[in-house]
Amino acid sequence: LRLFSGTSNPALAREIAAYLGVPDGPRICKRFADGELYVQIQESIRGCDVFLIQPTCAPVNDNLMELLIMVDACQRASARQITAVVPYYGYARADRKTAGRESITAKLTANLLVKSGVNRVLAMDLHSAQIQGYFDIPCDHIYGSPVLVDYLAAQELNEVVVVSPDVGGVARARAFAKQMRDAPLAIIDKRRSGHNVAESLTVIGDVAGKTAILIDDMIDTGGTICSGARLLRQEGAKRVIACASHAVFSPPACERLSEEGLFEQVLVTNSIPIAAERRFPQLQVLSV
Ligand code: R5P
Repeated sequence: LRLFSGTSNPALAREIAAYLGVPDGPRICKRFADGELYVQIQESIRGCDVFLIQPTCAPVNDNLMELLIMVDACQRASARQITAVVPYYGYARADRKTAGRESITAKLTANLLVKSGVNRVLAMDLHSAQIQGYFDIPCDHIYGSPVLVDYLAAQELNEVVVVSPDVGGVARARAFAKQMRDAPLAIIDKRRSGHNVAESLTVIGDVAGKTAILIDDMIDTGGTICSGARLLRQEGAKRVIACASHAVFSPPACERLSEEGLFEQVLVTNSIPIAAERRFPQLQVLSV
């Protein structure tokens, strides 16, 4: 077994390597003056099972391209099997056409990965579970929820209600509620008036006086989770905790999430690296 990391989340790759007791293998990933990327695997991997760790988080296009080049390099170096470990799968939200003449970019990127020579993909909390089927190779889909649930369970919270911030997240929230000792479920009716603009209209379910745990796959600009939290506060929730597997944190997410009195805690995993300057007091980053 050989493990190599791209440049998108070296800290996570180091943790995985230490956990497995294998080295994060030697490789060169660099950029030419014109922006083209260069990858070289610096040891023989002939006949090896190679795992490439590279979440395709921002800068999404560079990280995706770097992964494709790594796969190509491994394939040309006669690796026996190549697994792309992509804890955060960029472009996952473009998983269907919502208007005419759009691309299904999540499928396009799956095609590119398969064509580059990947034999297996390991992804975590894909935006929609159906994306597994976009790969004509095995795709292992794992979840960050056990790590989040364990952390919450240690707090012995009372009167918990698990809340989906939109209708699309109901299955995820229901599964989370089940792991939270069958907590009740509430659902927010969210509307989008444009890209990156979210408005939470109504809550279906009882949240008054309760600890509301908002669960989502990702927090990007923070619009969805913050408008949801505001609505839950208006509806009488005693406290609101945000949970998400992927901390995309595009501006102005951190300013929004750290607003005084909105969230008691914001729990995310380390599928995407979070720079020190983007951290805020309510944030807790849990290791997957
Ligand atoms: C949408 O369906 C996703 O599950 C997230 O709720 C959304 O992408 C989060 O984006 P933002 O934080 O920008 O509202």
